[in-house]
Amino acid sequence: MRCLRALVFFFFFISPLNPMSTATVPPSPRIKAVNLGGWLVTEGWIKPSLFDGIANKDLLDGTQVQLKSTAVGKYLCAEGGGGSVIVANRSSASGWETFKLWRVNSTHFQFRVFSKQFVGINAGGSAVTVATTPGHSETFEIVKNTGDSNRIRIRAPNDLFLQANWGNDDPSVFLMTTFGTMQGEYQVTNGYGPIRAPAVMRNHWESFIVEKDFKFMKDNGLNAVRVPVGWWIASDPNPPAPYVGGSLAALDNAFMWAEKYHLKVIIDLHAALGSQNGDEHSGGRDGSIEWGVAGSGNVEKTVTVIEFLTRRYAARRSLIAVELINEPRAEGVDFDTLKSYYQAGYDAVRRHTSTAYVIFSARLSADAGEFIPFARGLDGTVLDVHYYNLFSSIFDGWTAQKNIDYVNNQRASQLAAVTNPNGGPLSFVGEWVAEWNVNGAIADDYRRFGEAQLNVFGRASFGWAYWTYKHVNKHWSLQWMITNGVISLK
Ligand SMILES: *[C@@H]1O[C@H](CO)[C@@H](O)[C@H](O)[C@H]1NC(C)=O
Ligand SMILES: *[C@@H]1O[C@H](CO)[C@@H](O)[C@H](O)[C@H]1NC(C)=O
Repeated sequence: MRCLRALVFFFFFISPLNPMSTATVPPSPRIKAVNLGGWLVTEGWIKPSLFDGIANKDLLDGTQVQLKSTAVGKYLCAEGGGGSVIVANRSSASGWETFKLWRVNSTHFQFRVFSKQFVGINAGGSAVTVATTPGHSETFEIVKNTGDSNRIRIRAPNDLFLQANWGNDDPSVFLMTTFGTMQGEYQVTNGYGPIRAPAVMRNHWESFIVEKDFKFMKDNGLNAVRVPVGWWIASDPNPPAPYVGGSLAALDNAFMWAEKYHLKVIIDLHAALGSQNGDEHSGGRDGSIEWGVAGSGNVEKTVTVIEFLTRRYAARRSLIAVELINEPRAEGVDFDTLKSYYQAGYDAVRRHTSTAYVIFSARLSADAGEFIPFARGLDGTVLDVHYYNLFSSIFDGWTAQKNIDYVNNQRASQLAAVTNPNGGPLSFVGEWVAEWNVNGAIADDYRRFGEAQLNVFGRASFGWAYWTYKHVNKHWSLQWMITNGVISLK
């Protein structure tokens, strides 16, 4: 007894260094979670087969195209980047010579230029780039050559083929190069179109994640899921086209299964109206970042999405946290806009629950700690940081050991820098994966890499979440990693 008391005293004595001791911050939940990526917000690389039934699936919204006239040997160019005419006199292609597709259906498209206007045909029959919203005059048919689908003709709304004005061979034939294909929720739903998309998506939601996955998670030592959702879920069952209804029922199922298997749920608003990062996983149409744009109303509408979700699930005992927005990108979302959104989103959550944590995501390409002083003034906040040894050339050519050392050293200090001992937000490594750019790594390398990350990220005061649960690339699938003994949480 005396011994026990001495121990208790000892823990209290050191406790000022421990977040669990401060009055305002609830005890750390020590979350060990997995993301349900690619479920309610589509990402084609997670499940490519979801796109298999789309006609002309190489021409989805946001795909970038460059068009070289075969007769003239020059690229089409939006002169001045937009607001002018289309010319066919550039010998190499870059920004002004790149067009982003907006898909009308499998054959008809609109072409968005560098400065965001659309290519159209004026009264004189010339191609211009003046319209800021596309209509009939900005809708073109892409006619592929049956033998070589990179050779195309472009039929204008006046039924004539677009042609480079030089005349020799056939000035209406263009060589089309496509790149930057996006495969997000907008692309899959608009790709299938309003008739087919509802059934395709419902089938995906009902089969990709099922009850036995929650049992698997529980049986293998996980205690939570982070569920990416898109803004359109709040207008279920009739979201604006091309999105389709039904993801809300799937989220309801996640809560039901989480309760059955005693897992916590983190709702993560992964896709915000207008796109907060331009990535396919933000639900955007063409890679533009238009979420925080003044006057768009997108920020206010996003608060209503958070309010809707919190109101719906506040009474569920599985609800542990609401993440206000995932990975806003510093290049398109400024600090002050995001801060005012974080305040408004926080207030919206608190109108319905005093116990759910509110998670702020660090901005991509900004200082990860920039929101700590702000978050410190609010109870029950969490800062989400994502750590991948990928997506940057600094990791190119690294050995397995160098990657592991990086986790043990640099990542450990980065995490320590955002893990506040005295109040302030809890820290959360909301995305990480045991994948890297190492060639020829063997299973034991992956095992050690996973173990190092579990060890370091286990120091996050809120916890961590692996990206992701299911994935065609096995190392990205925690289900595969656990089943094959590469990662073990026991
Ligand atoms: C391309 O054509 C336009 C219109 O005739 C002209 O203003 C521009 O200088 C030309 N650019 C090049 C690189 O030839
Ligand atoms: C595709 O859209 C164009 C332009 O609105 C329309 O003329 C055409 O009939 C549509 N095609 C199909 C297959 O729906």
